[in-house]
Amino acid sequence: RTVYVNGRYVPENEASVSVFDRGFLFADGIYEVTAVLNGRLVDFEGHVARLHRSLNELNMHLSLNDNALRDIHRQLIDKNGLQEGLVYLQVTRGVADRDFAYPDAQTPATLVAFTQQKAIIDSPLAERGLKVISLPDMRWGRRDIKTVQLLYPSMAKMEAKKRGADDAWLVDSGLVTEGSSSNAWIVDHDNTLITRELSRSLLHGITRRTIMQLAQQHDMKVEERGFTIKEAQNAREAFMTSATSLVYPVVSIDQRPIGEGQPGEIARALRRLYIETSL
Ligand code: PDD
Repeated sequence: RTVYVNGRYVPENEASVSVFDRGFLFADGIYEVTAVLNGRLVDFEGHVARLHRSLNELNMHLSLNDNALRDIHRQLIDKNGLQEGLVYLQVTRGVADRDFAYPDAQTPATLVAFTQQKAIIDSPLAERGLKVISLPDMRWGRRDIKTVQLLYPSMAKMEAKKRGADDAWLVDSGLVTEGSSSNAWIVDHDNTLITRELSRSLLHGITRRTIMQLAQQHDMKVEERGFTIKEAQNAREAFMTSATSLVYPVVSIDQRPIGEGQPGEIARALRRLYIETSL
C-alpha cells in the first residue's frame, strides 16, 4: 500500500512517525473513517465537518484546507486502486518532549492517512445480523470528540467476542449511549425509529444523520431519545450504523432475540436505500 504521512506518499514500510508523537504518548489525536464505494467517497463533507469540530474542541490546528484533504483521500484511492473499503485519516498534536501541557501552538500537527480494502456492500454480517451484549459505558465524558483513545471500545468488542457475540452496546445511567464503534437504533411497534439524542455522551455519527434524512424522506418517523436495554429487547427491530458497516441489523441483545431473531425489514430497507444513494 501507498500511505500518506505529513505531505508525502510513501510505501507503507517506509512510513514513520516519531516516538515522541503526542498521538502515540497521550492519545492526543483525532481521526475520521470515510467509506469508499465504487471508488467514490461516501458522505465526505460530513466527515470533514466533524474533523473540524474535533480539532476545535481540542484546540488543535491543521494547516490544510478541505480541498487539500479531499485531494489526499482521492490520491490514496487512485494510487491504491481502491474500489471498496475505507480511507482512515488521523491528526495528532505533533511531536514534542513528553509533557502533559500542550506544546506551543506552532508545533506542526502530524497527519497520516491510509486506505483499507473491505467488502462493504456484500457483507455476510449484514445478511445474518449481529448478536450484541450490553456493557457499562466506561469511556470518558467527551465521546462527541472522535479521538484515537479507543481502548475501552476495543475491550468491549473483545468481551463481546469472548461471550460468543459480535459487538457491545454501551449503557450509561440505564440508557444505551451507542455501540462500541457505531450508533444504536431501535424500531418500535409503530415503526418509529428511535436513536439517542446528540450530546457529549456519544459520537455524532455521520451515517446516523444520513439514515435519519433518508428515513424522513421515506415518511418514516424518527424520535431522538435514549432507550433502555429492556426496551431494545422488546422492540420490533434493532440495528446500528457506521461508515464502515452502513446499517447492520441486530438480531439479539444479551441473548434475547429481537422480534423473530432475524434481520428486520426496516433495517434491510434502510441499508438498501443508503447504498443506492451512495453509488
Ligand atoms: N467508528 N459511535 C462510535 C463510538 C464510533 O466509533 C463510530 C464510527 C460511530 C459511527 O459514526 P459514523 O457513522 O460517522 O461512522 C458511532 C468508525 C467507523 C471507526 O472507528 O472505525
